[in-house]
Amino acid sequence: AHHFAIVPAAGSGSRMGTERPKQYLPLLGRPLIHHTLAVLCGSPHIDKVFVVLSIDDREWSRHDWSALGEKLVPLFCGGATRADSVLGGLRAIGAEVAQSDWILVHDAARPCLAAWHIDKLVRELAHEKVGGLLAVPVADTLKRADDYHRVAATVPRDSLWQAQTPQMFRYIMLRRALENASQVTDEASAMEAAGLSPRLVQGDTTNLKVTYPLDLHLAEWILQNREG
Ligand code: C5P
Repeated sequence: AHHFAIVPAAGSGSRMGTERPKQYLPLLGRPLIHHTLAVLCGSPHIDKVFVVLSIDDREWSRHDWSALGEKLVPLFCGGATRADSVLGGLRAIGAEVAQSDWILVHDAARPCLAAWHIDKLVRELAHEKVGGLLAVPVADTLKRADDYHRVAATVPRDSLWQAQTPQMFRYIMLRRALENASQVTDEASAMEAAGLSPRLVQGDTTNLKVTYPLDLHLAEWILQNREG
């Protein structure tokens, strides 16, 4: 089976508090998403990288993506939610992929993805039927709150993981799961709703999602201090 990446990049990034969508914010002199796409396009495991953009995207065409090579394919079919954007991408590439091919869905907003993250995910899931996702064990003590922000319970954290991306599933299973799921915030939840059990593959916290302004500084530090 082949491996393809789908990168949802049609969000507005409202929590960043910037006018410009966060995927285009400058990070070490390049748009943030350029870092994300460079790692995916540079991976020998991945055949093509489909980036799902908003139909109202005003930025993509202003930048030069030629350094990323031939694997990169922009699709202007973003939706109202992340899941809609991914599903739009899956529908758009239907004629190009086989039903059992692997799809790696990766957030545009995770620019510190490393080659070893992809290698490990692909290696550990190669013989899985369903697929799985990168994740890290939860480090903090978690509290469930009541309506008045009082602690209702402490949630035991020993079996809790924080979901990251890439999330890697077979094309047809993922498409069917997303077509039947509503209000999911990641692909794994759609698979779970379909009664399937994705595998957790342990990554690390350098693969952070840029959500708030501080994350941009952390991402810059991680990229600058990376070996190799
Ligand atoms: O908002 P959040 O950080 O969870 O978004 C995760 C990823 O999903 C981002 O890369 C964002 O651009 C993308 N997204 C999308 N379409 C939407 C909303 C978010 O492609 N409607």
